[in-house]
Amino acid sequence: MSEYKVRDIRLAEQGRRQLEWAELHMPALMEIRRRFESEKPLKGIKISAVLHVTKETGALVRTLMAGGAEVSLAGSNPLSTQDDVAAALAEEGVRVFAWKGETVKEYWQNIREILKVKPDIVMDDGADLHALIHESYPDLRPLGGTEETTTGVLRLKAMEEQGVLRYPVIAVNNAFTKYLFDNRIGTGQSTVDGILRATNLLIAGKIAVVAGYGWVGRGIAWRLRGMGARVIVTEVSPLRALEAVMDGFDVMPMTRAAEIGDLFVTATGNTKVIRADHFLKMKDGAVLANAGHFNVEIDVEGLERLAVSKRNVRPYLDEYVLPNGRRLYLLAEGRLVNLAAAEGHPSEVMDLSFSNQALSVEYLVKKGEELERKVYNVPQEIDEQVAWLKLRGMGIEIDQMTEEQKEYVKQWRYGT
Ligand code: ADE
Repeated sequence: MSEYKVRDIRLAEQGRRQLEWAELHMPALMEIRRRFESEKPLKGIKISAVLHVTKETGALVRTLMAGGAEVSLAGSNPLSTQDDVAAALAEEGVRVFAWKGETVKEYWQNIREILKVKPDIVMDDGADLHALIHESYPDLRPLGGTEETTTGVLRLKAMEEQGVLRYPVIAVNNAFTKYLFDNRIGTGQSTVDGILRATNLLIAGKIAVVAGYGWVGRGIAWRLRGMGARVIVTEVSPLRALEAVMDGFDVMPMTRAAEIGDLFVTATGNTKVIRADHFLKMKDGAVLANAGHFNVEIDVEGLERLAVSKRNVRPYLDEYVLPNGRRLYLLAEGRLVNLAAAEGHPSEVMDLSFSNQALSVEYLVKKGEELERKVYNVPQEIDEQVAWLKLRGMGIEIDQMTEEQKEYVKQWRYGT
């Protein structure tokens, strides 16, 4: 067994059962694993990954190992690690440095631990690993990297624009088979799941305010509406605001929404979207949750400064009393509620995201030397292959174009 640091290695058996349960619902990734087992495309490759250490990530890590890789793993958020999964992976030879409830200092120490192996490939969710390598490891030049999430891709594009990116990175987030399902459907469901587990409140009849109408915000707004909430959307983009209006949501500035919302969910990727002037306008009992990658969207420090008292009510639910006597309830310390208070996206969705990850890693190993120091989209062939694998796994067949149809879509002469 290799070195590791996890909460409790005795949780390994429970973790193995969780992994089995996830894998049962990840047919595309399992098909990739079977091919990796026979072809060993990652033989001798050292991979360091900063990902939420969940049962689905465990299924991905096992797949990379089946391909011949040696994997080191750290968590992508101090609150998102599933300790039983971390223990199971440690027993299977993964260098895991992750536990639920890490301090911020431990979080960074764990990322440094996984860089000790001098990885060939780095995988990240949020770009903390990529940023750390660029800032503090000038001699480390991996063949390439992947990035799982919108926030991370934005950071990497900024690095590319500033001319500092040192290796090619595949933006897994930008695959159709990733963002359309993971960001929208996965976050939609798992965010509601986190809110329900933390509060056990009724969604029906509530006024829910969703900040941001990107793929994640869209997913959350639609799910909350589906459960009977009256949903208000706040936006800064006129295009997205218009889309939200035409999708039938109320759209207004946060200053007005603050006065009427019962439940607030942030999904903007930006900072201090809900802040002091908003807190002071909120109703007694308002619930605040964040679904964005970083804990910056709700100004928690501002809330701490403003509050006259704070107490924990139940797991992942803190009460803040404001000077005006009203009580606000913050979920999961303002960290991503779906992974902190629940288990992240369901396995069926992560099947798509992590099939893209596995195939992107294989692509980097094959083609990394030829690539420039840029952020690349997932090649179209991989995106389509993932869709095929998933459809096959779900037992769904689709039509194929006839020869006549193939010719028809290429021509421009025949109209009406
Ligand atoms: N991000 C969101 N849900 C996740 C999950 N279940 N596993 C890993 N990363 C995630």
